[in-house]
Amino acid sequence: MKILELVRNNVKELNPYASARDEYQDSSNNMLFLDANENPFDNGVNRYPDPQQLQVKSKLSKIKNLSTNNMLLGNGSDEILDLIFRVFCEPNKDKVITLPPTYGMYQVLANINAVEVVEVPLSNTFQPQIDKILEVTNAKILFLCSPNNPTGNCFAVSDVEKLLENFQGIVVLDEAYIDFSEQKSWLNKLDDFPNLIITQTFSKAYGLAGIRLGIGYASTEIISVLNKIKPPYNVNSLTQQSVLDRLINRKEVAFEIQQIKAERENLIIELQTISFISKIYHSDANFLLVKVDDANFRYQQFIEKGIVIRNRTNQLGCKNCLRLTVGTKAENTRLINTLKAIQ
Ligand SMILES: Cc1ncc(COP(=O)(O)O)c(C=O)c1O
Repeated sequence: MKILELVRNNVKELNPYASARDEYQDSSNNMLFLDANENPFDNGVNRYPDPQQLQVKSKLSKIKNLSTNNMLLGNGSDEILDLIFRVFCEPNKDKVITLPPTYGMYQVLANINAVEVVEVPLSNTFQPQIDKILEVTNAKILFLCSPNNPTGNCFAVSDVEKLLENFQGIVVLDEAYIDFSEQKSWLNKLDDFPNLIITQTFSKAYGLAGIRLGIGYASTEIISVLNKIKPPYNVNSLTQQSVLDRLINRKEVAFEIQQIKAERENLIIELQTISFISKIYHSDANFLLVKVDDANFRYQQFIEKGIVIRNRTNQLGCKNCLRLTVGTKAENTRLINTLKAIQ
């Protein structure tokens, strides 16, 4: 498979915007920057940010053991997903595959970009139906979300491998929740699969949803095309600095992940005692999908008690299911007490 053949012609041909900071940015030899029409008075953020976010990338490169040329940073992984649509999918012509129930933004981004979505539902154990997926012809992108939102489970390694080997287009593997999982990331398999793009985010385990930083990992070939179309200064300086600060303290992140996972297990034990919960799905993420007697009714009861959860009853295969995010110990205790009170 020739990856470049999957790229839209207008993207192949376009000349990217050359930003001032792309041309020069090293101030070590006392350079004077009068090129970007910035306000010269220093307030910490009067200069444009590094368009290639090299400090963040080089830190990530050490942690992930990957070259900085295999990374693209964006304003959340949602921006990375949008850029992937815009690089590969011709509006009103191309199609992509999603596996519902799954993360809703794939469908929304497809609609925004005028791209058709072929839905191949997950099996009743929430695993991909390999043969049915591979029967779809001429799809540009296949979206795999593992651990999957809203079901919480990972896809079987052998199934993901089969899809990577046989799907004749780009495979986007969304690993937003991978840090909560026992399954390993596919990052160290990037070299084996030139059609693979992995997305990760600082919004979940890293606790930085408010600063919006997502990452796309892929071959240098794919990253360089994505780089051509990204907005020049898509990751602001404050975000870049916050991530660097957080990465200095990875022990704290690891400790929080460990606590969330322990709380997830405590929550499962407590949820088993609630009479109107008939099923708690296995989770490799920081949330639990549970089946109740009447999701709309229970959801409303929660709202009245001041607790906001996600009602997933209208998602394929999720009738009467609610999605509960794992909170702190105190938050989970309030959740459980509320469940006990309304049962
Ligand atoms: C599976 C999945 N991917 C991506 C995202 C978006 O992440 P970000 O905050 O990096 O845009 C979410 C957010 O809920 C998600 O559940």
